[in-house]
Parts: sequence; structure tokens; C-alpha cells
Amino acid sequence: MSETDFTPAPGNGPFVFTPENEAAAKKHVAKYPPGRQQSAVMPLLDLAQRQNGGWLTETAIRYIAGYLAMPEIRVWEVASFYTMYNLKPVGRHFVQVCTTTPCWLRGSADVVSACEKHLGIHVGETTKDGLFTLKSVECLGACVNAPMMQIGDEYYEDLDADSTVKILKALAAGEVPKPGPQSGRRTSEPAGGLTTLTSLNPPAE
Ligand code: FES
Repeated sequence: MSETDFTPAPGNGPFVFTPENEAAAKKHVAKYPPGRQQSAVMPLLDLAQRQNGGWLTETAIRYIAGYLAMPEIRVWEVASFYTMYNLKPVGRHFVQVCTTTPCWLRGSADVVSACEKHLGIHVGETTKDGLFTLKSVECLGACVNAPMMQIGDEYYEDLDADSTVKILKALAAGEVPKPGPQSGRRTSEPAGGLTTLTSLNPPAE
């Protein structure tokens, strides 16, 4: 099946926001002028997905459409376009490996194969124990630390096969691996060390 084809998974029962999410949804809607409440569709879908264990049921999508008084098809269009929304159940750890050009040039193919080999699944699949779902996605905006993957809400960057497996093993053991660059560098500072501003002291006159 191509990534553009999808069949909505059957809903898993009625959906209604929890009181906390209802309050959060109201705040999102209030950010937009009267009559423009549909602009809140993305954060509301995100709230619904988090409430529903990481994926959007048909009933949740219908609920959001009703909540924002917008045609259901418009909500489906948003939910099926962005890879951040899942239309079928996912594992506890949703692993999204960026395979767009900058990450590809820096070895994202190795990251994908390390995930596939270690987890015993292919891209688009979930492990039998329900722990991991693997997906390849387009640029996640961290190209300066390529290659990278997003797991849950965290970014893991400057990856290679070994660091990728280390992260997956830590998650499987119930640990929380440190997000960010795995190469030892801070944020996106030069990988080979500083080349300018190497001293805080001005040169002697
Ligand atoms: S290309 Fe991978 S984060 Fe931009």
C-alpha cells in the first residue's frame, strides 16, 4: 500500500475530551478570531491523539469536526496529510526516522536499517510486544544535527547505527535515554571543535 492510500481504522468507541483536554482545547480555540476556530484543528487533533494512546480513531476525528463545526472531510485531510497523526494504533514508542536528503547524506539509511534489524520489523510496522512502531518521515527540522529520529516528543540527533540501537535498548528497558546529539557535541556547535572565537580573551595589542 502506498503511503498516500489509507483506510480509516474503525473507531474504538465514542470519543469525548477529558475535562483537562476540554480546557486545553478551549484555550487553543480562543487564540483565533471569532469564526476562525477551525484554525485550531491541528492542536486539537494532537490533544485527541495523545488522549487516545497515540492514534486517531474515526470517532475522534468526527468529534473534532463537530467541535470545530467543520466538514469531516477537512479534518480527515489534515489528519491524513501530516505524519505526526496516526490513523491506526502505534506502539508505546513511536519512532520516526528522518530520511530526507540532509539526513540521508549523513547516514539515515544506516539508522533505518539499525532500527529494522534490532526491532525485527520493517518501516510502517509495530513490534509484536507493542513497544515500538517504526516510520520514516520527511524533514523534522533538525538537519544541522543529521541524521536524526524523533521518538515520542524527543529528538535524538547525530546518530549512527550503534547510538540508534543503544537508544532503542534503553527505551525497551524502561529507561529514558538522553535526547539531543548523541555524538558528544553540544547542540549544533561545530562537530570538529571551534574554528572561530576560540578564545574569550581578546588578542593582546
Ligand atoms: S533532513 Fe532530516 S531533519 Fe531535516
